[in-house]
Amino acid sequence: MSTGGDVAIDGHIDAAVKAQFPLLERSVHGHPIVYLDSAASSQKPAAVLDAMDDYYRTINANVHRGAYEIAAAATEQMESARADVARFISAPSADEIIFTKNATEAMNLVARSWGGSNLGPADAIVLTEMEHHANIVPWHILAAERGFEIRWIPITADGCLDLTDLDRLLDGAKLLSVTAMSNVLGTLNPIPRLAAAAHGAGALISVDASQYVPHLPTDVGALGADFMVFTGHKMCGPTGVGVLWARSELLEAMPPFLGGGEMILDVTKEGFRPNTVPHKFEAGTPPIAEIMGLGAAVRYLEGLGMDAVRAHEVSLTGYALRTLTDRHGDDITVHGPSEPAQRGGVLSFVYRDVHPHDISQVLDQSGVCVRAGHHCAKPLMRCLGVTATTRASLYVYNDTSDVDSLAEALDEVGALFGR
Ligand code: ALA
Repeated sequence: MSTGGDVAIDGHIDAAVKAQFPLLERSVHGHPIVYLDSAASSQKPAAVLDAMDDYYRTINANVHRGAYEIAAAATEQMESARADVARFISAPSADEIIFTKNATEAMNLVARSWGGSNLGPADAIVLTEMEHHANIVPWHILAAERGFEIRWIPITADGCLDLTDLDRLLDGAKLLSVTAMSNVLGTLNPIPRLAAAAHGAGALISVDASQYVPHLPTDVGALGADFMVFTGHKMCGPTGVGVLWARSELLEAMPPFLGGGEMILDVTKEGFRPNTVPHKFEAGTPPIAEIMGLGAAVRYLEGLGMDAVRAHEVSLTGYALRTLTDRHGDDITVHGPSEPAQRGGVLSFVYRDVHPHDISQVLDQSGVCVRAGHHCAKPLMRCLGVTATTRASLYVYNDTSDVDSLAEALDEVGALFGR
């Protein structure tokens, strides 16, 4: 098994972790790359690239179909990756892991399959103002067809959920769908508390854990989730593979999402009999190489240790908040909670009145990669009173030198866009 192995993260050996990510050796515009956009997509360690390459070079065949040796090996490795993912989130069974194209598709699966058979005109669901569009638009589409109400948990001035009216909002609702960690503010939401409140009101809870699973130890039981979605490419894995986890009773009761090969037990001219879970929800040839890459990513992160990953990010986030504020003072406003323990390593900021796209372009000239824009969270942007922010996001391979590079490159922004 090729993983991070004995490379623990303690703030002194970041270079060893960084060296496991081939892309981080390159330069951009004559500067060593400073990759600060992991909330959009993480870089990939060699272990993940090797796992995908090995599949294509040695056992490339379709899964669950062929009886010959390499097809059986491919099937076994794919199902082994499913077990890796289940273990990573402490799921009771690998059969509760559904592979999708990405977290967005997983969310659409929940909306279409569970929502389509459980929500009608008399019903309500609850979202929050800090949701990503992937946890808003599927519900808007379904609500337009089925006529249920969407209620919203507001946010406080410091970017946390305002739970003052939670009980009233949940009263009579069938689902609370909420992010575990905001992709804009970094806010970590109190999922166990929200799950207890939802269940107390007779509702289910669906958790968008796209920004959570890559960064914190995750236990679906401890969180109290009924559904949870996340994606491979933000957790050192490849693009093209996402995950839906749900309690098996829910998956058993839900109708198929997409129809086609592999998701059936039988097909006649009159109809079809769906396959067992998880295959009922995996129509067509799955992203086999990507699933194997995700399995390798899980083993890589386990090798680092998720407690160590979280500790590293808390420490680096604290350093980043101090460094940006110390160096840029009133010129910069960082959104979200000020306490690193209450947030992940996502730093959305406004710098004077310079447009985030301009900031991002100037930073790029120094090799610093950040995201600028609305971050697929337009309702949140409206709450914050902005149209866009600049967002720097941290991960296992970042260190204090990356934060220093960002802070220094912002001097260029200050110099170019004088008051
Ligand atoms: N959802 C990803 C982000 O927040 C793409 O950047």
